Amino acid sequence: MAETTAAKTVKFIITRQDNPESKSYTEEFEIPYRPNMNVISSLMEIQRNPKQANGEGTTPVCWESNCLEEVCGACSMVINGKPRQACSALIDKLEQPVRIAPMSTFPVMRDLVIDRGRMFNALKKVKAWIPIDGTYDLGPGPRMAESTRQWAYELSKCMTCGVCLESCPNVNEKTDFIGPAAISQVRLFNSHPTGEMNKDERLDTLMSDGGIEGCGNSQNCVRSCPKGIPLTTSIAALNADTTKHLFKKWLGA
Ligand code: SF4
Ligand code: FES
Repeated sequence: MAETTAAKTVKFIITRQDNPESKSYTEEFEIPYRPNMNVISSLMEIQRNPKQANGEGTTPVCWESNCLEEVCGACSMVINGKPRQACSALIDKLEQPVRIAPMSTFPVMRDLVIDRGRMFNALKKVKAWIPIDGTYDLGPGPRMAESTRQWAYELSKCMTCGVCLESCPNVNEKTDFIGPAAISQVRLFNSHPTGEMNKDERLDTLMSDGGIEGCGNSQNCVRSCPKGIPLTTSIAALNADTTKHLFKKWLGA
């Protein structure tokens, strides 16, 4: 059994919401400290014994998580004011009380569970995939230049966690800007020898409402991405590509 440090506790202030329509409120919790605990293991502890710091009982706090190793992006939440993954947020490195809230860019379903649907819709809008006819064996795919593969691999690490949208001032309820993640995925799929076949469609989408011109160059996205994806490099590259695409269209090429 894990050894607990008797006197030591960890304090949390958690923003909760009972359903998508209801108002949010905060509850305070205090749980025993254990070495190496992170925000997810703390939430699990609160779930096991849903009691507030004042001793009053409450409902278990809801959250979402899957991989527990910063790969799936499901556990994004705002921890001490910073959007990040709860599974990699170590309690030892956080100031107390630890303040936890859902990301504000996405609709709250319950407590810390948000609906990241706008991100998946953005990926559909830009056709962030490579169309493959799966009805017969196509054989090996086309080769990519190693120099391209290296930077394309970095872009492929996106886990649709939503942190870059949360930190972008231009992604909010007043705009339909698709956000940096989807723009970067356009660069990824346009760089693929097969994905390139839909390049013009993707560029057309980026040039339409809610597309690349929604970027205000705050550069918050690249600073906040937990995967270190060069989002502003992707946006700059796509700015150049959409401009070239526009001229080609004007010239009827
Ligand atoms: S680009 Fe980075 S911050 Fe944005 S969704 Fe992907 S992994 Fe998350
Ligand atoms: S649980 Fe998958 S990123 Fe945290």
